[in-house]
Amino acid sequence: MADIQTDVLIIGTGPAGSSAAALLSTYGVENMAINRYRWLANTPRAHITNQRTMEVLRDLGREVEDEAYMFCSHQDLMGENVFCESLAGEEIGRMKSWGNHPLSKAEHQLSSPTMMNDLPQTFMEPLLFKTACSRGTQARMSMEYLRHEQDAEGVTTTCLDRLTGKEVTIRSKYLLGADGGNSRVAELEKLPFEGQMGVGGSMNIIFKADLSKYVAHRPSVLYWVVQPGADVGGIGMGLVRMIRPWNEWLIVWGYDINGPEPVVDNAFATKVVRDLVGDQSLEPEITSVSTWTVNNMYATHMQSGRVFIMGDAAHRHPPSNGLGSNTSIQDSFNIAWKLAAVLKSEAGEGLLETYSQERAPVAKQIVTRANQSIGEFGPIFEALGLTESTDPEVMQANMDKRCDAGGDAERQRAAIREAIAFKKYEFDAHGVEMNQRYKSGAVVTDGQMEPAYELDAELHYQPTTWPGARLPHAWLFDRNGARHSTLDLVGKGRFTLLTGLSGEAWASAAQKVAKALGVELAVHVIGPRRDIVDHHGDWARAREVGEGGCVLVRPDQHVAWRAEELSDNPEADLTRVLAAILHRDATAARQAAQ
Ligand code: FDA
Repeated sequence: MADIQTDVLIIGTGPAGSSAAALLSTYGVENMAINRYRWLANTPRAHITNQRTMEVLRDLGREVEDEAYMFCSHQDLMGENVFCESLAGEEIGRMKSWGNHPLSKAEHQLSSPTMMNDLPQTFMEPLLFKTACSRGTQARMSMEYLRHEQDAEGVTTTCLDRLTGKEVTIRSKYLLGADGGNSRVAELEKLPFEGQMGVGGSMNIIFKADLSKYVAHRPSVLYWVVQPGADVGGIGMGLVRMIRPWNEWLIVWGYDINGPEPVVDNAFATKVVRDLVGDQSLEPEITSVSTWTVNNMYATHMQSGRVFIMGDAAHRHPPSNGLGSNTSIQDSFNIAWKLAAVLKSEAGEGLLETYSQERAPVAKQIVTRANQSIGEFGPIFEALGLTESTDPEVMQANMDKRCDAGGDAERQRAAIREAIAFKKYEFDAHGVEMNQRYKSGAVVTDGQMEPAYELDAELHYQPTTWPGARLPHAWLFDRNGARHSTLDLVGKGRFTLLTGLSGEAWASAAQKVAKALGVELAVHVIGPRRDIVDHHGDWARAREVGEGGCVLVRPDQHVAWRAEELSDNPEADLTRVLAAILHRDATAARQAAQ
C-alpha cells in the first residue's frame, strides 16, 4: 500500500507542472505536484509571455489574467530590439519587436483578447502555483522524484522526502513528468528523442543597476551588444535583458562548451556588466550568476502508457523566440482536459494518445525554430564584417566601415538593415506563437481540406475554424453591452457549440446529446435578440460556416468539428463526432443518445 494516493501526480512545479496542477484542480481532478527544491523559480529565466499563454491564464479566470498584467512589464515597454556596441556606446540598428510595429500590433489586437507581455518566471510560477494550491492541488516541496513503475491500473512513484530523508511512495492513476530539461521521468521511460543536448554554453549574470539613462528612450526587453574580442575566439556578442524597467537586469554571455565550465566570480561578472553597459564607473549589485547549456532536442513521442512528459522535459532549446515556458503552459492546456475527461469516465483512454499526436509536432517545431533563430544572427555578423577575421582590431575596423561614405559602405548599411529586419523570425514571429493546428484523433475534419497559409505561417497568424485550429477571436456583446471574446464563450473545461439563428436545431440536439453522453456541452446561439450578439459582424466573417452551421469547440479552445450548414440529423452528427473525439464506443453512444 502506497503512502499517498492521488489521481494525477505531477513531477515539477515549473511553468509546465504548476499550470497542469492549476488546470486539473480547476477541472476538479485530484492531483499532487512535487518539487525537489524548497523554492519555486529563483531566477527570472522565462519572461516573454505570448498571447496564447495569456489565453490559458484568462481561461483559468480573469483574476489570474489580471494578476499577470499587474506584475508584468507591458507590451509597449518591450518594443525596441536594439543592436549596439554597448548601452552607452554607438547604436548599430533596431527593430520593432513583440507586436510593437504598428502592422504587427494590429495583428495582435485582431487575434486575441489578450496582450503579449514580459512576465519573469519569478512571477509566473508563483501565480500558477498559487492558483493550483488555492483550488485543491496537494503540493509537496523538498520532495524528490526517484523512480516509478507502472501497471495496468496505475503508477507507483518513489520519492525522497528531503526533509526527513525517508522514501515515500505515491500511487496515482497517471504521472506527468514536468521535471525540466534533464527529465528523469523521460529517461526512465526511455522516451524517444531526436537532436543533441549541450550544443552551446551560456551564463546568466543577474544584477541591479539603474540604467534608465541608456535605455528608457528606446524601451526594450533585449539589448544585443556586439564587442569584437570581448570573448576569446568568438564574435563577442552579449545580451542585456531587462527584468524590471530599468533597474534589474540579466546578462546572457556565451562560453565555449568544449572547454571547462567558467568560474563566474563577482569580479568577472562585474567586468562583463561594465563592458556591455559601456560604463566602467558603474557599481552593479550582482545578485546571482549561473551557467546553462543550449540544447537542441525534442521528444518524438510524449507518452508511455500512463506516463506523459511535458514542458522542457519534452522540448529542450535555447531561449530564442521566448517559447519554452509558453509552450510548457500550452502543453498543460492540451492534456489537462483530456485527463479530466478520462478520469470522469466521459472519455476512453484513447483520447490520451492524442496528446502526443498533437504536441510532439509542436515540440519539434519550436526546438527547430529556436535553434534556427540563433543561426540567423549570422547575416548580421557577416554584414558587420565580423566573420572575415578573428583579429578584434580588424573586426572593429570592419564594423566601423559602415560609417563611411561611398558605395561599399552603402551596401554594408543596406546589408545590416536587411539582416536586422530578418530577425523578425525571432522577435516578431506571431505565427509561430499562434498557428498551432492539431491533426489527431481528437479532431474530426470530415475530409475538409486544411486551408493554405496566405502569408508566411511563421510570421503571421491565420485564423480559421478548420477543425484542429484554435478558435478565432472576435468581440461579441451581451444584452448589457459588455463585450466578450469568442474565446471567453468557450473553454473552462467543457465543450461548447457555437451556432447562429438558423442553426437553433443544433442547440436542442446538443442538449440531448450532452445529457445522453454525460458530458458538459455549453451552447451559444449568436444573433439579434439572443444573449450574445455579433454587432460588428466579425464572428460572421471569421466562422467560415453558414449561419445554420455550427462550430464545436474543445475545452482547450481548439475547434473539434464544424458543420457548414444545418444537417438532416444534428443529433446523430453530434453523437458521432463527440463519440469519436472522446474515444467512446460509437454504437453505445448512439444508443445512449436515442
Ligand atoms: P522547469 O525546469 O522550469 O521546471 C522543472 C521543475 O521540475 C522544477 O520545479 C524542478 O525543481 C522540478 N524537478 C526536476 N527534477 C525533479 C525531481 N527529480 N524531483 C522533483 N522535482 C524535480 N521561455 C519562455 O517561454 N519565454 C522566455 O522569454 C524565456 N526566456 C528564457 C531565458 C533564459 C535565460 C532561459 C534559461 C530560459 C528561458 N525560457 C523562456 C525557457 C523557460 O525558462 C523554460 O522553458 C521553462 O522553465 C520550462 O518549464 P518546465 O516547467 O518545463 O521546466
